[in-house]
Amino acid sequence: MMPAITATAPGKIILFGEHAVVYGRPAIAVPVDQVSARALVMAEPRRPSGSVHILAPDISLDADLCDLPDEDPLAMAVRGLLSALKIEQPPAFTLQVSSTIPLAAGLGSGAAVSTAVIRALANFFGVLLPDDRVSALVYEVEKRHHGTPSGIDNTVIVYRMPVYYVRGQAVQTFRVDTPFTIVIGDTGVASPTSLAVGDLRRLWQADPERYEALFDAAGQIARQARQLIESGQPGELGPLMDENHRLLQQMNVSSSELDRLVQAAQNSGALGAKLSGGGRGGNMIALVEPGQAEQVVGALHNAGAVRTIKTVVEKTKE
Ligand code: PMV
Repeated sequence: MMPAITATAPGKIILFGEHAVVYGRPAIAVPVDQVSARALVMAEPRRPSGSVHILAPDISLDADLCDLPDEDPLAMAVRGLLSALKIEQPPAFTLQVSSTIPLAAGLGSGAAVSTAVIRALANFFGVLLPDDRVSALVYEVEKRHHGTPSGIDNTVIVYRMPVYYVRGQAVQTFRVDTPFTIVIGDTGVASPTSLAVGDLRRLWQADPERYEALFDAAGQIARQARQLIESGQPGELGPLMDENHRLLQQMNVSSSELDRLVQAAQNSGALGAKLSGGGRGGNMIALVEPGQAEQVVGALHNAGAVRTIKTVVEKTKE
C-alpha cells in the first residue's frame, strides 16, 4: 500500500497594520505554530483514475470533487493545484483535511488549509513546489473567497517566517533579535474578514482623506515596530499596539467584545494590546512579559475570551 502523504501549515497573527495593508501600507505578521491545518492524501488504486474524494470532518464535508461547486475553497485549492501541474486525470486519491485553527477569527485558517492541501498534493504528485508558487496558488483561493485580500495571510503562512508585507512588493522576511511573548484572546464572535474590509472600503470612498490619514499612521507604526523588533527592543512595542488599536477603532473595525478584551489585557499588566486581523470579532493580541502571561490569560477569560493561546515570537536563526 502506498503511504499517506501529509503536510501542515501554521496559523498566523497580524502584529501591526491590518486593513491599512489593503491600501498599500506595510504590515507585520508572524506564524503561530500552536495551531495548524493538516492535509493528508491517500492513493486509492482500486478506484478509477480521476476519482477524487474530499473529507473534512470539521466542516462535515464528505464529497467527490466533481460534486463540489466552483467556489468551494477546498475544491478551488485542489483544482488550482491540478491545473498548475497540468494534471487532467490524476490517479484516484482521497484528501483528508483537518484544522485546529478557529474559523473566521483572524488566525488565517483559510490560507493555512489551502497551503496544507496544495503542499500535500504537490508532494503526492512528486513535485517540489517552491514557496512563491505555493503562495501564489493560495492567494488565488483567497481572492475568489474574500474579494480583495492583501496577500499577507498566504505569505506569512507559506513562508512560515515573520514577514513585513507591502502589497505588490517582493516578500520581505526580517530578523527577530530578541524573543517576545504574545497572548491571543478569542472573542468567540465569528466575523468574516470580507465584511469588515467591505464596510471600510465604503467609508474610505465617502471620505478618502480621513481614512488615508489613518492608514498612513498605521503604516508608520508598522515601520517603527519592525525597527524595534530587529534591534532587540520588543518591550517597546506595547504603546505602538495600543495606538494601532485606537486607529483600528477609528476605522470602525473593532467591536465592544474586542475593546473589552483589549482593555482587560491592558489593565492586567500587558505591555500593549490590539485587535488582530479583520476585526469586528475574532481575536485580539497582547504583548506580555513572560512572567505576566498567566495573569493576562486569566483577565482575558474573566472578560469573556472563549479561548486564549500563548505564543512566543522566537529569535530568527542566522
Ligand atoms: O482576518 P484575517 O486575519 O484574515 O486578516 C485580514 C487582514 C486584513 O488586512 C483586514 C485584510 C487583508 O487582506 O489584508
